[in-house]
Amino acid sequence: MENHVQILLNKLSYASITVATLTFFFLYLQTPETCLDHSDSKPNPYIRFPTSTCDFNPRYYASLDKRNRRIWSTKSWTTAVSSYAAFFKTLHISNHSRALIVSAGPGNAVVAMNELGVADVTGVELVDSPPLVSRADPHNLPFFDGIFDLAFGVYLDRALFPGRYVGEIERTVMRGGYCVVAVEECGPREVEKILILFKKSRFVRANNVTLAGEFRTVIVMKVESST
Ligand SMILES: *[C@@H]1O[C@H](CO)[C@@H](O)[C@H](O)[C@H]1NC(C)=O
Ligand SMILES: *[C@@H]1O[C@H](CO)[C@@H](O)[C@H](O)[C@H]1NC(C)=O
Repeated sequence: MENHVQILLNKLSYASITVATLTFFFLYLQTPETCLDHSDSKPNPYIRFPTSTCDFNPRYYASLDKRNRRIWSTKSWTTAVSSYAAFFKTLHISNHSRALIVSAGPGNAVVAMNELGVADVTGVELVDSPPLVSRADPHNLPFFDGIFDLAFGVYLDRALFPGRYVGEIERTVMRGGYCVVAVEECGPREVEKILILFKKSRFVRANNVTLAGEFRTVIVMKVESST
């Protein structure tokens, strides 16, 4: 009796293993199907599914224009832009200046600078936000030496290598131009430490401002030598 049960159980497990293996192979050989109608010559872009997990084509569910217009009309965007504009006003920048914004995020500082009348503004960030911000590493800026009148490092406090971040900003600003960096709100002792990072600029001022809803300390430096 015991033996019979044992044999029956063994048979059952062999059967299960066979079924499981066959099912596995069946699933493995199946090509995934999507609900797209391949005969449709003009598929709707809003329901384009990735063909595989390696499909890196960007999938814009809304056009860039539409998405930007949506972002630019939010309250947080307009508040951020006006906070940057209020700060830039204190810098007395000429309309003909060439300005660089490093760590530009989604580009609200770029827009603020444009609104003040500065047309030539370049915004860079690790992740691009077209058309306002291009992709570049703040530690290795893709610009020649001394081509900007002003460079603003919006988030020095988030830089991986603050010395290198400051060095690159200083390198791209011409003699007589200004380097501006912002960090989390801090006192004179921290400001002293940041000043050490600058190798060829003179301290102009440091003050507390609210930028994009955050309490920040900005430091303004004037580039004195060209090497
Ligand atoms: C700079 O541009 C702004 C905005 O376009 C304008 O209002 C202002 O008059 C210009 N300033 C000078 C000095 O041209
Ligand atoms: C910024 O404000 C903080 C707190 O009020 C103060 O301790 C600090 O000294 C201020 N920093 C500057 C550069 O004015």
